[in-house]
Amino acid sequence: MATTTTLEVRNRTFPTGPAIPRDWHGAGRSVTRFFDNLSVFFPEGERFFMRSLRSFRAQVADDPVMRALIRGFCAQEGIHGREHERYNAMLREAGYPIDAMEAQVKGILAGAERLLPKRWQLAATASLEHFTALMGHLLLEDPRLLEEADETMRALWKWHAAEENEHKAVAFDVYEAVGGNYPERAVVMLVATVIFWAKVVEQQARLMALDGDLFSPRAHLTLGRFLWVKPGGMAKLWRLWAAWFRPGFHPDDLDASEALARWKAEQVEPA
Ligand SMILES: [Fe+2]
Ligand SMILES: [Fe+2]
Repeated sequence: MATTTTLEVRNRTFPTGPAIPRDWHGAGRSVTRFFDNLSVFFPEGERFFMRSLRSFRAQVADDPVMRALIRGFCAQEGIHGREHERYNAMLREAGYPIDAMEAQVKGILAGAERLLPKRWQLAATASLEHFTALMGHLLLEDPRLLEEADETMRALWKWHAAEENEHKAVAFDVYEAVGGNYPERAVVMLVATVIFWAKVVEQQARLMALDGDLFSPRAHLTLGRFLWVKPGGMAKLWRLWAAWFRPGFHPDDLDASEALARWKAEQVEPA
């Protein structure tokens, strides 16, 4: 069971748009496209997460803490979706086929909603939330990952990273509360992992092709080095991902409180 009982909803707006350089991450164009790639998933993905959790509201009606957490989760994800929509509009303006890419993500999620029982959809939500929490954990923990980024983009990604860590146990706890079980969540995680990462690779290739970088060994080396070597993080991501398959796993097993406290301390209170 999670230790978090309330979620702070920060209605933050980030001035993404024409003022942001197209290649906003100083570590390289292919690195910028990797973050952009992840952003393509968020608006549709987070709406799926919200629908998935809301469909279980009635089943946790007698648990006011869980109901409040679902509300907080949906509020945070709704704002993330809105900010990533604006982020993605900036990519669309820059000439990337965001409509087609988002439509494909939407199609995959619609297929899941058509084919899977509700609880399996919730297991998929909890599985994908494991990824967002881990990626967020790494971003908060290692400042080098966004050190060379444009200031607005760094602030946006860190804010999202922080809130993913704040609400990382909500989908998992609701899943457990409504009868989720180990074999089911293990299988769903494996399938979700394959589908999600296949799509990440495909979208990365598509974005890099539009930059003229698809066949550039240098662009791939830059991204590979960034993800795996310096600053790295991918090896750790997969190690932490594997913790999901421990029968007694809980998202709070990985303590993000220090990284979160550091992020909160960095936030300047609006006047
Ligand atoms: Fe989010
Ligand atoms: Fe989330």
